[in-house]
Amino acid sequence: MTKNQKLLDWVNEWTEICQPDNVHWCDGSDEENQRLLNEMIKSGAAVKLNEEKRPGSVAFNSDPSDVARVENRTFICTTKEDDAGPTNNWMAPDKMKAEMLESYKGCMKGRTLYVIPFSMGPLGSNIAKIGIEITDSPYVVVNMRIMTRMGQKVLDVLGDGDFIPCLHSVGAPLEAGQKDVRWPCASNIDDKYISHFPETNEIWSFGSGYGGNALLGKKCLALRIASNIAKREGWLAEHMLIMGITNPEGEKKYIAAAFPSACGKTNLAMLIPTIPGWKVETVGDDIAWMKFDEEGVLRAINPEAGFFGVAPQTSMETNPNAMHSADKNSIFTNVGVTPDGDIWWEGIGHDCPAGTINWKNKEYDPESGEPVAHPNARFTSPASQCPAIDPAWEDPKGVPISAFLFGGRRPHTVPLVYQAFDWNHGVFMGSIVGSEVTAAAIGLKAGVRRDPFAMLPFCGYNMGDYFGHWVNIGENAPDKSKLPLIFNVNWFRKADDGSWLWPGYGDNIRILGWIIDRVMGKVDATETPIGLVPKKEDINIDGLEGQAEKMDELLEVDNNAWLEECELIAEHQQKFGDSLPKEVKEQYEALKKRLK
Ligand code: GTP
Ligand code: SPV
Ligand code: MN
Repeated sequence: MTKNQKLLDWVNEWTEICQPDNVHWCDGSDEENQRLLNEMIKSGAAVKLNEEKRPGSVAFNSDPSDVARVENRTFICTTKEDDAGPTNNWMAPDKMKAEMLESYKGCMKGRTLYVIPFSMGPLGSNIAKIGIEITDSPYVVVNMRIMTRMGQKVLDVLGDGDFIPCLHSVGAPLEAGQKDVRWPCASNIDDKYISHFPETNEIWSFGSGYGGNALLGKKCLALRIASNIAKREGWLAEHMLIMGITNPEGEKKYIAAAFPSACGKTNLAMLIPTIPGWKVETVGDDIAWMKFDEEGVLRAINPEAGFFGVAPQTSMETNPNAMHSADKNSIFTNVGVTPDGDIWWEGIGHDCPAGTINWKNKEYDPESGEPVAHPNARFTSPASQCPAIDPAWEDPKGVPISAFLFGGRRPHTVPLVYQAFDWNHGVFMGSIVGSEVTAAAIGLKAGVRRDPFAMLPFCGYNMGDYFGHWVNIGENAPDKSKLPLIFNVNWFRKADDGSWLWPGYGDNIRILGWIIDRVMGKVDATETPIGLVPKKEDINIDGLEGQAEKMDELLEVDNNAWLEECELIAEHQQKFGDSLPKEVKEQYEALKKRLK
């Protein structure tokens, strides 16, 4: 257990407020995990999957109202509203705490309060941060055990030290004798809160049991709180995958890439190259923490220990490494369950067996037109099970980053790949990332939305100041010549008939190949108003039938389309008022001048 008085006091305080029937300190052991899974299988909350096909794995269906992050109920609570900035929901800390305290009173009646000690980052590493999550959801416990380093070993490392308190309740107390539902949560969206208090490093979440709303180490701690700490301390906490790429000559480089939710990070991180001689290894698929080392090299660690990956369209065809990561010891949420106790989702690569139970817990009906899996259905799997996991993925020193990629789903205007002229131009590129809206969050209007640095829902402070932090990182870099090069990619260009112009997935290595060649100074590029674009002949399209005809369109920079884009960028920049750094504003003016 622990002798950490601050921790003991904190747990006692919340036990009194939440009034659970029991308190359980999670030790992270196999027995504990098995016991919780068995209890949930017995109660009907979880379905045990076929032990031969999917060993050690279970499936859950959420309540239909609780299927993704709730961005309009996510708050940054700072004394001054300006510190949360124009893109975050804000409330004063005192007011938020008073309001939420009413919700927490008695909220765990009839349930167990679990205390989850977890480490983001390799245990004991000086980059790692320890959090303690209090939750009344055993589903959260078994997920956190995969997504983080969790249990008694964390308390041992913590000792008397400081931790980030993370409070969570599904917000569904049980009256005496009341039978539980399969997925308890607050049924009314306005009763949900995902609140962050960056001035005191606290997280309070209420009413949702799903993903980033409830697994508080991920988006809440490792991004929203950590981005604040990183700003104060001069490092970066980013919504980025980290991958190692080895070329046919055996030279290895690491890159990090920021794409908005459900825009291809997991897939890129685990890519299996379709051209011979190349190798890709995965360090992380969602979050990167980065600091300069003594040599002035920017090094990245993945603070997570598992993947919480989008299930639909993941298949042996598109992402075998993700499929193998989820072979065993995995948790599936909102997928279909087949009669033989395996999982199924749209795009898994074979037809849906008759009698499959869909995510709404009803028998699959091909006539209904309803999907079997929810579009934001997810698998939770240990990173260590990924066949392509990088040998250095748990190295506390992190891996050296040679390039940053930004990107999103842009059917038009944005070419397949282009490179920034310099660091500040790259910061500008990050600041204008946009994407068509996906299913990863509830209640967003369809269309392209700006998602700067893929951090719009995850930046824990004023996004204008965040751009400024990126400018400062470049300016204060110990050795500017060692800064990563910055690129933008777009796998999602569409032809007029709506078909993809680029095959994507494993073929993305063809673009990574060019990027690595740029990093190593092996290849020239064409200067355009928006940045440096590959010469057509430098993209290897060997073996891709019908691709040659599409390359002009894919690499085209259409001045008129970009002038229209500039109008949208201007609109976007206006939101930030005085907090928009002059360097970013200047990049916009310079782009407009180059286009005219
Ligand atoms: P989060 O976990 O929400 O942060 O998402 P992510 O960025 O990791 O996205 P992920 O890799 O899970 O991909 C989301 C969806 O995009 C999946 O349905 C993929 O099949 C699809 N996708 C990924 N890469 C490509 C690609 O190169 N081309 C196309 N056409 N689709 C892709
Ligand atoms: C995302 O939405 O970017 C995710 C899933 O990675 S969640 O953990 O729910 O935030
Ligand atoms: Mn994500």
